[in-house]
Amino acid sequence: MRTKLLVLIAAIAPVAAFAAGEAHLERAGNDVGNRASLQRGARNFVNYCLGCHSAKYMRYNRMAADLGISEPQLIENLMFTGERPHDTMRIGMNPDDAKRWFGVVPPDLSLIARARGTDYLYTFLRSFYADPARPTGVNNIVLPGTAMPHVLWELQGVQEAVWEGSVDAAGNAQKHFKEFKPGAPGKMSPEEYDQFVRDTVNFLDYIGEPAQLQRTRLGFPVIAFLAFFSLLAYALKKEYWKDVK
Ligand code: HEC
Repeated sequence: MRTKLLVLIAAIAPVAAFAAGEAHLERAGNDVGNRASLQRGARNFVNYCLGCHSAKYMRYNRMAADLGISEPQLIENLMFTGERPHDTMRIGMNPDDAKRWFGVVPPDLSLIARARGTDYLYTFLRSFYADPARPTGVNNIVLPGTAMPHVLWELQGVQEAVWEGSVDAAGNAQKHFKEFKPGAPGKMSPEEYDQFVRDTVNFLDYIGEPAQLQRTRLGFPVIAFLAFFSLLAYALKKEYWKDVK
């Protein structure tokens, strides 16, 4: 049994290592309980992502209710394309156009936080760097050769990647990502940009499971009830069995 387990681990380990890629993922450190952060994240998402990415499982009015946004605020600040509040967050872009422009259709982001994890998203949005060889002028350490342009370049600026080289056993030169160095500056300081990304990722985390706000809120009373009920059941059992011995 044990050998089987070891064989299994040996078989999966390289796959797991490959999936993680070369990039080291930074901790997103977001908190879905932080309403102000979620509201900023919703604004970021609508302004910077919804042009290309839908969130087709998320309804505007559900989002507004969860995030404490009133309907007039919702319509005025977060809805620009004439949808109604009970519509889901779809995009006007036609998939054929998207394919022509980007080569791929930008994925729906409803479940992306669950598919990729928040640390991945946080690192991905902070890992674009200038690469004149790419049609978009940028590349990404986390998703090399990505078709996504650096849509936040005005905020972050465009950083440069520093590589370090080594020669492998076969004599081929390899390059490894070392670090970023600042390039053209953006409107935000690095700290402001990290916060911007953290809020956006927080929002993506929330839409991945909108009920998680209620779930965590309900969790404590439910566990407390179960604990109390167990004690009660135990006391009752003792009472019943007292005379049976
Ligand atoms: C101009 C269009 C455009 C905008 C705006 C845009 N994206 Fe993208 N995005 C793309 C395309 C195209 C892809 C597909 C990339 C690929 O597969 O190489 C993509 C892919 C992604 C992915 C998937 C990465 C993966 O591992 O598969 C994530 C996450 C993402 N975008 C997040 C965002 C967020 C968050 C925003 C807003 C801050 C945003 N995008 C704005 C075009 C866009």
